[in-house]
This record gives sequence, C-alpha cells and structure tokens, in this order.
Amino acid sequence: MSKKYRVGIVGATGAVGQELLDLLVSRNFPMESLRLLASSRSAGKKIQHAGKTYVVEETTPECFDTLDIAIFSAGGTPSKVFAPEAAKRGCVVIDNSSAFRMEPDVPLIVPEVNPHAIKNHKNIIANPNCTTAISLMALCPLHREFGLKRFFAATYQAVSGTGVAAMRELENQVRQYANGEPITHEVYPYQIAFNVIPHVDVFLENGYTKEELKMLNESRKILEAPHIMNSTTCVRVPVMRAHSVAINAEFEKPVSVERAREVIAAFPGAELCDDVENKKYPMPLFYQRKQKCGVGRIRKDLVFDNGLSFWVAGDQLWKGAALNAVQIAELLASQDK
Ligand code: A2P
Repeated sequence: MSKKYRVGIVGATGAVGQELLDLLVSRNFPMESLRLLASSRSAGKKIQHAGKTYVVEETTPECFDTLDIAIFSAGGTPSKVFAPEAAKRGCVVIDNSSAFRMEPDVPLIVPEVNPHAIKNHKNIIANPNCTTAISLMALCPLHREFGLKRFFAATYQAVSGTGVAAMRELENQVRQYANGEPITHEVYPYQIAFNVIPHVDVFLENGYTKEELKMLNESRKILEAPHIMNSTTCVRVPVMRAHSVAINAEFEKPVSVERAREVIAAFPGAELCDDVENKKYPMPLFYQRKQKCGVGRIRKDLVFDNGLSFWVAGDQLWKGAALNAVQIAELLASQDK
C-alpha cells in the first residue's frame, strides 16, 4: 500500500488556503489526515468542504510534531516563525511565501521545470512567486528550445494575489460604484475598481518593486540559468483571480514562431491558445480554475534579434500558488514510492 501523509495547511482560511484544501481533496492526494491551521483569530472556526467539517486550529510549533507535510500560505512572517520549527520537527514544509526562496539550500520548485532540484531539500521547499511560475509555463519550453538570454515583462496581476481582503475590496468597490456610493479603499493605496495600480509589493532603492525582482531572481534559480537578464513592471489590475503577463524575450538561437508554438503546445503546464484570425488569445477570465496556463499572441519581436513576443495568462491561485504547491507535494509523494 502506498504511503499516506498527515498534511497541514497553514493559512487555511485565506484565498490560497481554500484552494489548497480543494486541490488536495480533488486531486486525491494520499492523506491520512488533514488539519487546517491559521492564526488565533480563526481558531475554532468551522470550514465545510466536500461533505466534511474541519475545525481551524491556531498554528503553534507543536502542531508540526504530528504532521508529515505542511503547506504554508500565510505570508512571510508566519513562515519565518513556523517553517524552521516545522522542519526541525521532521515535517516537510512547502512554503508559498518569499521568505526562503533565494536561500541556497532551499529548492525552489516548479514541477514541470526543475523537479530534480527537490532531491536535496532539508525539509523546506519553496513555491515560487505567482507571476514567475505562470511566465515559466512559456519561458521554460522556449528556453529549452532556443536558449533564453533576456526578457522584458509587464504583468497584469489579479487582486487574489493580495488575498481574501483584496478580493472583497474589489467586489465592494464595484457594488459602491453601481449604487452611486463613495468608493472606499483599505487594502490598496488607491481604488482598484476601474483602475490599474503600477505598484505590487514594496519599492526598493533602485526604483523597482520587490515583486519585480522576483521575476529576475526566481527565473534564474528555477531555470538554473544565472546569466538571464530581465526587467519587469508589475501592475495590479481589477481582475479577480488570474494573472496575465506580456513578455518580449531574446534568445541565443534563431527563433521561429511555428517551432515556438510546437514546443509550447507540448509543454505539460501550457495550453497553446493562439489563433488571432479567430480572435483566440488567452484571457484571465477564461483561465480561472484551469490547471494549464494559456500562451498566445506569439510573434517575432520587432526589437530583439532572435526575439519573440507573447502573452501568458494563468490562475494565480492555482499555478501561481496552490496548484504548484500541491504538485510539489505530489512530487514528494512520488519519490517515497
Ligand atoms: P486568519 O484568517 O486567522 O487571519 P489571505 O492571504 O487570503 O489574506 O490569507 C492569509 C492567511 O494566513 C489566513 O488564513 C490567515 O489566518 C493566515 N495567517 C495570518 N497570520 C497568521 C499567523 N500569524 N499564523 C498563522 N496563520 C496566519
């Protein structure tokens, strides 16, 4: 009989946490037990899912004594506090925050791209930034075929990336607008409904945001290609849960649009959606709750030699977070067999 795991979700009441619960159950992850953990604010709260009632528990170091795998999606501070405690107690952590991603001894895994890197983990495995994971569904097959040198990206990031409170804020603002009421905001520095905000995460001294540098640093680590150069502008848009990214990339080898389409269509995490004559291109509305990320608008870039321009859309809560984390858990389980 194959092994069954005692699994915990840290941040289970959040936007990603809820998707983790859904995906672990719907993908039949081999679980002996599943515990939902959050902050003390949610302790005792009941969550119903697939005919079962779960009672949310407060996260404490002792919780991890009786867990084999804990998937964290509670933000950087709880990860920094609890992930090392869990690892010390023999529980393997799959961490969705940015806290450990760039640590040299922490594998940063996208299962379609670098599954081999998981083998030397020391009980903490990092899940990448959402726009990086989604962009890699196009960048990885193209890199393998043509050799990626550098790329520009502009992101169109859904409010789900900020969490449940931001999703409610967008809904409220749309309601307030429809009712002719004054529009209020708390989560974002400005109204997000009917607006775009070129500000995701905190600004750094060089004028980029922290989120923008994740694309550079995490792509290099996951593709094992430290020479890659990138400049990204991250933008929050009033979309509920799927991110889109416009990419202009330059490659070592001559490119062909036909071959680019072939390698993207053959890549497990990507779906080719590229037929402009019939107005077919990936849009966030149609990539919610889809496992694959859509890639389209593929064309020769007018600026770069050996360049391609393209557009990717994928579910931030799935490939950008919960699905990738569950795929990492599945990869771990497959290695135990
Ligand atoms: P809680 O509901 O108790 O605040 P989102 O990103 O959608 O806002 O969700 C964040 C998740 O992280 C929630 O489940 C939240 O739980 C959880 N969380 C926040 N702070 C902590 C903490 N200190 N320990 C454990 N979980 C936390």
